Amino acid sequence: MSDDKKTPQDDHASPANPDNQIDLRRQSADAEHAAKIAGDIPPRPEPDTPVAPSHRRKGRHGVGLKETPSTGHEWDGITEYDNPMPRWWLWTFYATIIWAVGYMFAYPAIPMVTQATQGLLATNSRKEVAAEIDRFAAANAPIQAAVVQAELGEITRDPDLTSYATNAGGALYRTWCAQCHGAGAGGARGYPNLLDDSWLWGGSLEDIHLTLTHGIRDPKDPDTRWSEMPRFGVDGLLDRQQIDQVVHHVLSLSGQPFDAARAAAGAEVYADNCSACHMDDGSGDRGQGAPALNDQITLYGNEPETLARIISQGPFGVMPAWSERLSEAEIRALTVYVHGLGGGE
Ligand code: HEC
Ligand code: HEC
Repeated sequence: MSDDKKTPQDDHASPANPDNQIDLRRQSADAEHAAKIAGDIPPRPEPDTPVAPSHRRKGRHGVGLKETPSTGHEWDGITEYDNPMPRWWLWTFYATIIWAVGYMFAYPAIPMVTQATQGLLATNSRKEVAAEIDRFAAANAPIQAAVVQAELGEITRDPDLTSYATNAGGALYRTWCAQCHGAGAGGARGYPNLLDDSWLWGGSLEDIHLTLTHGIRDPKDPDTRWSEMPRFGVDGLLDRQQIDQVVHHVLSLSGQPFDAARAAAGAEVYADNCSACHMDDGSGDRGQGAPALNDQITLYGNEPETLARIISQGPFGVMPAWSERLSEAEIRALTVYVHGLGGGE
């Protein structure tokens, strides 16, 4: 390749834009040019010999500083002084080593087969947590006793008890209840919303307390809230057509679009099979936990297919009894908390 620049063949020289010309002087490394290239490079300077700072300083003992020796390491002409570590740095470093050894003997440190070495101070984070929990329990014991002794209604009239119950209840709710009823207590399909004033079993303090203590359809609790809607389809109590008809009657009760002819036939099916629990007008019966069917609020959904499935298979919502897992004070705190969510009666 030649040394000429900006030859007409140069790709970068466009007649339309004569300024856009890149100077592409390349140098090949072949034998012909090697000598020239080598000759062009200025001779490499010898690496600097390390020199101590030029201003004269006195050492600690009044002796003038010696020239700092080099480590002999050199990169591209940059050499490395062989200076000692600063004293403060070294002593801090030694101190951390001593600290680490002391720490290793004092606290649990070295992992062994089943557990770590335990340390001379015999500290144990598990024990510390247990002690903290005990301390809180002891601090809360008096107010918990007061919550248990008071009538449920008194708790909501006493500001201190209410404040305790609402706070403790909120924490308990997030631990035990949010999985099913939702973090904001808004519920989900099959899990009732606890914020509204539509109740399956009742929204007074006493009702909620009973629901929580004994659960709903919990086979392990003899005093649980119990009722069972028949499985009309599965058990052959109603045929497909009757179920379809009664679905349309239920749609008409809750003010949704329905087929008039089927709903009229369904009204009869309803009167014979459903009104005992859901009442003639569909207003439901809390004594049996039978939801109102004449409003837009549903537990399982109100699409026609869902209704048909529910009526055919029979819903069977279960909530565990909490008396085995939670103390009476905790259940009462939860009762007050749920009651205060908005729908309390
Ligand atoms: C395993 C899921 C589950 C958990 C956990 C759970 N619930 Fe429930 N809860 C239900 C179901 C399901 C129902 C509705 C039962 C039915 O169909 O009658 C219900 C019903 C209720 C009701 C009655 C609502 C009404 O309208 O009468 C209350 C109150 C309630 N739960 C509060 C709680 C509280 C407080 C907790 C936490 C201690 C809790 N639940 C934990 C599943 C759960
Ligand atoms: C023995 C009482 C009983 C009878 C009879 C009964 N139900 Fe129910 N029904 C219930 C109960 C209790 C529930 C709530 C079950 C639950 O919470 O899991 C329920 C729930 C429902 C639901 C779901 C409501 C919702 O909010 O999602 C529908 C729909 C329903 N029933 C319709 C009917 C129809 C239609 C009939 C008649 C063919 C009928 N039920 C007969 C007790 C009954």
